[in-house]
Amino acid sequence: MTAPELLHLPSAKIIAVTSGKGGVGKTFVAANLAAALARAGRKVLVLDADLGLANLDVVLNLFPKITLHDVFTGKHSLPDAMLRAPGGFWVLLAGSGMVEYSRMTGEIRDQLQKVITEVEPRFDHVLLDTGAGISDVVLYTVSLAGEVLVVVTPEPTSLTDAYATIKVLANTQGRRKIRLLVNQTRSIGEGRAVRQQLQQVVDRYVNPALDSPVRLELLGEIPADSAVRECVLRRTLMLEALPGAPASIAMVAVATRMLPG
Ligand SMILES: Nc1ncnc2c1ncn2[C@@H]1O[C@H](COP(=O)(O)OP(=O)(O)O)[C@@H](O)[C@H]1O
Ligand SMILES: [Mg+2]
Repeated sequence: MTAPELLHLPSAKIIAVTSGKGGVGKTFVAANLAAALARAGRKVLVLDADLGLANLDVVLNLFPKITLHDVFTGKHSLPDAMLRAPGGFWVLLAGSGMVEYSRMTGEIRDQLQKVITEVEPRFDHVLLDTGAGISDVVLYTVSLAGEVLVVVTPEPTSLTDAYATIKVLANTQGRRKIRLLVNQTRSIGEGRAVRQQLQQVVDRYVNPALDSPVRLELLGEIPADSAVRECVLRRTLMLEALPGAPASIAMVAVATRMLPG
């Protein structure tokens, strides 16, 4: 792991887990990365920020009585909405009441920002499990994070959509360092190839117009693994249910790279 694109720098505290294309594994990554970081002794919160299509609760088999919706509407306080997930991390779940938040309003902006400001001092890492694409809601949620992790698969459609996301984040948020997590790889080193491919396109079409270039950094790669689907179907956390699965082992390696030292 001595490739120059693999960095071992400590991460920003608030990390947006986002993607161009949907269904590439953001929620899977957010939940299992959180579990791996928790196992390393870090206090971690995952915020289900895919407000319109929230499903972190489903994956973790949690049935929240109090959701972000209740916090937004002032019915409950933020600490009341925090749930401990299997895996030893904390979650703030959106719940199905959030369907109405598929459009971003000033009020939701303020509420989201308030929630993040409030949780920030209490955790070592806060992962925002965002929606896919470049809608207002997604871009706003990502804008609240110090660091962006773009989940991408080697599929051409996922690459194209990841490129669109990267371009918009560079142009509208001034992002110059964007981390990549290549999910569902079929061979070792495919993550590196994907990073290189995306970097080439960015160098050609995005960077010439910028004052300083966008640099894509590979945080790691997670292999396509039947254990992932199996765990989603059983509604169990992969890292707990099948810690020896190749995808679990890769996830722990990714988490290690996010820790200082
Ligand atoms: N590494 C992987 N190997 C095999 N299947 C995967 C992997 N990562 C994700 N999947 C499949 O993709 C589906 C969608 O993942 P999910 O995390 O819900 O995506 P997103 O949050 O980006 O929409 C999962 O239910 C799982 O079946
Ligand atoms: Mg998701």
